[in-house]
Amino acid sequence: MIDLHCHILPGIDDGARSEEESVRLLLAEKEQGIDKVVFTPHFNPESISPEAFLEMRADSYERLKNTPGFSEIGVETKLGAEVFFSMRLMNMDVSELCFENTSYLLIELPTNVRPYGITHTVRSLLSRGYTPILAHVERYEYFTKDPTQLYDLVMLGCVAQVNAGAVVNGSSKKGVSAFRYLNWELAQIISSDAHSLETRPPNTRAAYDLVEKKLGRHYLKWLIENSLAVFQDKILEIPVVNKPKKFLGRWI
Ligand SMILES: [Fe+2]
Repeated sequence: MIDLHCHILPGIDDGARSEEESVRLLLAEKEQGIDKVVFTPHFNPESISPEAFLEMRADSYERLKNTPGFSEIGVETKLGAEVFFSMRLMNMDVSELCFENTSYLLIELPTNVRPYGITHTVRSLLSRGYTPILAHVERYEYFTKDPTQLYDLVMLGCVAQVNAGAVVNGSSKKGVSAFRYLNWELAQIISSDAHSLETRPPNTRAAYDLVEKKLGRHYLKWLIENSLAVFQDKILEIPVVNKPKKFLGRWI
């Protein structure tokens, strides 16, 4: 199994604070059956240059690779980033921000307000051969209020990811949204977004177990195949799904 979104690289963002914590988080991933992980530290193009970020990321990765116990874990790792949305992405070389040796780019959106220029920016990335993966789509209020906004972006060519933590807390507001998107196949990926063992632990396995119970084994298989396709830079075939519509005050 694969985790495509986590903050396990040490000392670079609000995730793991030390190399030792990174190793503990990777061990927790392995115990759940995760054997492929993409490291996706936060990167905000409005506050730091890509060059400075990539240098910090390389330094952090180097320290982790030299940490006792790291190489014995047996998890295949790739570098990536969780890029905060900015219209600067239209003119930016994002090749090294994508998941290593792939054309998939993880993008985080503002929580409360749909960002100006998102469609233009997504179109620009897609036209250059990159595939945006929208991070934790259950979190954005404008998608919750109007899921056709998410639908339109997915139909343009974006992939949508939900956090395992939201799936596990299925009765919460975010959990309800996560299951709704999964059920509609408007979200195609589950990842941990793990930050620490205490607050936001790796819990992809628990989320997968719940999905299998609620939506069925074939559905779980589809989700795992999707993550593997992204990790291996294969084309992810997004199903043509029905556009959500409001019926008697409920989105169906
Ligand atoms: Fe994240």
